[in-house]
Amino acid sequence: MVKICCIGAGYVGGPTMAVIALKCPKIEVAVVDISVPRINAWNSDQLPIYEPGLDEVVKQCRGKNLFFSTDVEKHVFEADIVFVSVNTPTKTRGLGAGKAADLTYWESAARMIADVSKSDKIVVEKSTVPVKTAEAIEKILTHNSKGINFQILSNPEFLAEGTAIKDLFKPDRVLIGGRETPDGLKAVKALKDVYAHWVPEENILTTNLWSAELSKLAANAFLAQRISSVNAMSALCEATGADVSQVSYAVGTDSRIGPKFLNASVGFGGSCFQKDILNLVYICECNGLPEVAEYWKQVIKINDYQKSRFVNRVVASMFNTVANKKVAILGFAFKKDTGDTRETPAIDVCKGLLGDKARLSIYDPQVTEDQIQRDLTMNKFDWDHPLHLQPMSPTTVKQVSVVWDAYEATKDAHAVCILTEWDEFKTLDYQKIYDNMQKPAFVFDGRNIINVDKLREIGFIVYSIGKPLDAWLKDMPAVA
Ligand code: NAI
Repeated sequence: MVKICCIGAGYVGGPTMAVIALKCPKIEVAVVDISVPRINAWNSDQLPIYEPGLDEVVKQCRGKNLFFSTDVEKHVFEADIVFVSVNTPTKTRGLGAGKAADLTYWESAARMIADVSKSDKIVVEKSTVPVKTAEAIEKILTHNSKGINFQILSNPEFLAEGTAIKDLFKPDRVLIGGRETPDGLKAVKALKDVYAHWVPEENILTTNLWSAELSKLAANAFLAQRISSVNAMSALCEATGADVSQVSYAVGTDSRIGPKFLNASVGFGGSCFQKDILNLVYICECNGLPEVAEYWKQVIKINDYQKSRFVNRVVASMFNTVANKKVAILGFAFKKDTGDTRETPAIDVCKGLLGDKARLSIYDPQVTEDQIQRDLTMNKFDWDHPLHLQPMSPTTVKQVSVVWDAYEATKDAHAVCILTEWDEFKTLDYQKIYDNMQKPAFVFDGRNIINVDKLREIGFIVYSIGKPLDAWLKDMPAVA
């Protein structure tokens, strides 16, 4: 029986390993983590992450061929294949601060693998890492190997949160990079055999190590670039009276472009896009390619611009001040169907409104008050460290209250900001919301999910990203 161990029981390690266990009943899968609360949660009825379909998969395999444990060394020792899916945050200090990936957790995992191993192992990079990390990890492992043969593979994860289980069941592709030596090719084949249990052979791509590592960064950069492109257009639409939904539909019908990922919004978030682009920028700079670095930096600049543009629009529309006004925030997660708030645009929007002294009442169906308070008080990039190493929020933001109902959040509010596209926000009783709000009542839709005409009929002043502006808003230009 093949034994797999995955170091890091997070958003990637947990779901990917649960699906491998489900699809490969003859493989024993152990997911290990240094965080005791996280492992306890994986072993309970309340899993540490929310992902549609995940509960059922875990329930089917847990205790049979899927185990969650804090005994990292034991399971690494026993495994034939070790996946490493630990945090790779952006460095906040020293060389490359603000851009380069911090490989502290990766390196410590690699050293531990070298220390405890007594048999040959395939070590798989699941974390997103800079190009050439495999080479560095290989050096750590082989310098400490005591004659053991380690083969390093890069197997970047392309799942999207919110649809992780669907993506894992039917991936567009699985990418495996390895050394082009006889031992390297054998290792690639061993990992390919695992995925071949359910992924068609033609969807399993094999490349050299560096191509696999770079492909992951490139794929995320391309995806983020699409969003920044349509968001840049949304600003121009507002200025000219064009409608961004019509423009993106027209653009997306070109088969060379395609219709997906063309929705204008308040900005992209999530743990990967910004981090991976910063990482790419740093790699370009290190390789003497400042023009290429500048090109990709723009994707992040437009994203930041879009968030501050939204805040400016809110404040400018409300007579240039939101001081002491209650503003309801609907949605805090970085997208629907996930409780993940890492790099969510809601953080910057809320901080912007708080900077103008607004009182915020926040509702998200999946995000806890504790998480929101932590997000609003944490320093940039601090979120990407193992939970027990993150600074606890010393204070709470007093102007923020977190409620468990959209109607409660909007009661007596001057404005509603929709920051996540949760389906339930489309079907709220907006007449009831309007009746219970201060007048004039504003809705700022950062996800273009509401029916603008219907809300205007009710009496709201409506702003929807990239849509023709309400007469009210035209008279209140949002100058930064
Ligand atoms: P996460 O923060 O949810 O999970 C990482 C886990 O690793 C934490 O639970 C932490 O306690 C654990 N850990 C850290 N050092 C450890 C060690 N030495 N031994 C044992 N456990 C350790 O992070 P997530 O989102 O799962 O990301 C992991 C990697 O996958 C990152 O490199 C990320 O960029 C990448 N990735 C993330 C995707 C996502 O959608 N979240 C998608 C594709 C890649």
